[in-house]
This record gives sequence, C-alpha cells and structure tokens, in this order.
Amino acid sequence: MVNKMEDKNIKGEVQSEQPKDTTVQYVNRVYRYIKNGMAIEEFMAKFHISLNELNGILELCKLYGKNVEVVEKNGVQVFSKMINRIAVNNKFALNPNNLIHTEICVVSDTHFGNIHQQLHLLNQIYQEAFNRGITTVLHCGDMVDGNYPNRPEQPRQQFLHGFDEQVGYVVDMYPEVRGITTKYILGSHDETHYKNGQATVNQWVSRCRKDMEYLGQDYGSLDINGVKIFMDHPGGGSAASVSYKPQKRIEILESSYKPKILLIGHYHKSYAFVYRNVRGIAVPCFCDKTQFQQKQGLSNAVGAYFLSIYSDTKGNIQYFEPEEVLFKPSDMWEEAGKDRNKVKKLVIK
Ligand SMILES: [Fe+2]
Ligand SMILES: [Fe+2]
Repeated sequence: MVNKMEDKNIKGEVQSEQPKDTTVQYVNRVYRYIKNGMAIEEFMAKFHISLNELNGILELCKLYGKNVEVVEKNGVQVFSKMINRIAVNNKFALNPNNLIHTEICVVSDTHFGNIHQQLHLLNQIYQEAFNRGITTVLHCGDMVDGNYPNRPEQPRQQFLHGFDEQVGYVVDMYPEVRGITTKYILGSHDETHYKNGQATVNQWVSRCRKDMEYLGQDYGSLDINGVKIFMDHPGGGSAASVSYKPQKRIEILESSYKPKILLIGHYHKSYAFVYRNVRGIAVPCFCDKTQFQQKQGLSNAVGAYFLSIYSDTKGNIQYFEPEEVLFKPSDMWEEAGKDRNKVKKLVIK
C-alpha cells in the first residue's frame, strides 16, 4: 500500500535532507495531501485503494499524532483534519479523579516593532486565557523584531527601531492581566540586540514587568504540576515541511533528558504531534507574513495553543489535548501602523 501511494508521486515535503524514519515521512506526505472536506471516494479512486486500506492509513496517521478523521457532510464521507485531540497511553485505565488537570496557553514570535505585528490578536488570546482562568502563558521567543545589520531592508519593515523603542514597547504594551504570569524565553531576533551592543531584552522587560518571568535565551525549562516542559527557539531556516524541523528537535533530545512537552517557536508554523513519547507543538506567531518570508516562499501561521493536560502524580501525561487557535487572513490588520495606532494595551485588573 505504501508503495502504491509513493508510485503515484505525492509531492515530497522535505527538500534538503531525508528523515531517518521513512514511516514518519510517509505519514507526513499523506497527511499533507489530505485536505479538509476532501471526499474519501476521491482519495481512494486517486490511489486505487480499498476502504480497508484507507482505514489502515488513518490508523497510521493517528499513531503518529495526526488528527484526521472521516465525517459525514451532506451525505458524503469526507476527511476532517481539525480535531485536535490526542489521547495517549492508558486510555482505558483513566480515572480523572486521580489526575491533575493543568491548563496553559502558549504563544510565540510577537516580533514587536515589525509593521506586520498583530498585537490586537495577542490581546484576544490573553482575554480568552483570562476567561478560562488560566494563570500561565508561555512565550517561545522573538518577543521583538530586533535589528539585523546585514538586512538593510529591515528598517523599512519596522515602525520601532533599535533596542530602546522595541523593548520600551514590550514594557508598555504587552498584555497585563490579573492572575496571569507570562513566562518567556528569548529568540533569534531578540538576541540581535545583544549581538549589536550587549543589550539584553529580559533585563528591562522583567525588571519593569513583574508579571513577566524570563526563563532563558533560546531555551527554557519549567515544571508545572510535575510535568516537565521545555521551551525551544531554534535558529536557522524553515523546512518546506511543517513537521520535519520540529521532529528533528525531538530527535536530538537525550532519552534521559526528554521533557513531556516540547514547545517550539521560531518557525511561525502550527503543528501538534507526538514523537518519541514527547508531545511536540510548533507554536504559531503573532506577525503577519513578512517580506522576508514572502521572498523565501515560507508559509506563516498566526495563532496560539491552549493546552489541556491531565497528568498523574509522577508527572506522566495521561491525556493531552492541544487546542489550536488559528487566525484567518481576514483577522489580520495589514495596514502599516493600524496595529500600532489603534490598539490599546490590554489591562485587566
Ligand atoms: Fe520569529
Ligand atoms: Fe526566530
């Protein structure tokens, strides 16, 4: 069956290197080919497979953390990819009374100072987090847009230039919500200020904002109700595949050092998966597609995740539900300056 699919030449996702695990590669290709609302008849006819074979493919997708199901729509059996529920081990032995329930929100790549920033959408997410009673929001880096001396086109793409303007903006404008602590790491764009003049974003953000706690440059770890969580902001470019680079981040973790959850910023992609028993999330951003991404042909996802975690007393996750919130292009404010001029700081006292 696998060969049958590959013979039909579904477009490969990974352009440069090949993952070692060919099953992962295969599942990624299938998952990418399947579109929301696509009739299963169309899929089966295209690849000459039976219903049983299709069920096998769907099982394989589930095993690798891909959320695709078949639902009925207007009397037609179609694929649905938007169900973000991943049940993990001991599903049938679950007793919710013995489990600790944790809810957190995860955001990333706000790129404050870039004309494509979307602070008004970040405010919506913090308002929703407050409504849900969430007390921890994690930010996976690239808080500000930074300053790359080797990108002469960058100043035109920014309404805030340099360290003082960008970090002052975070201090003044980042949502400040009663009961919520934002724990953050810094990313590649934040670090440019250090490289340019040893100015550290966290020094001023956390000194001025007691609700913002710094966890590290590029990387931070924390423990919430015994569940080990890593936050990661890699460097380098993005792969054409949504899943490839995040999975590579898990591959390099040593077995004894692995967290239960790995949250990855930097890629401006949205993707939830389970790999090597780590729940991985590629966290989307709060910046509309930039000129740089447009030129490089990179996709861009704007949104956040709400994570619902049920863990035991040893910090093992028994049930994990990553809820993806993605904004549509129509939610984005494209006009340069609109986000800066019209958005007020979200303050909930
Ligand atoms: Fe970024
Ligand atoms: Fe980055």
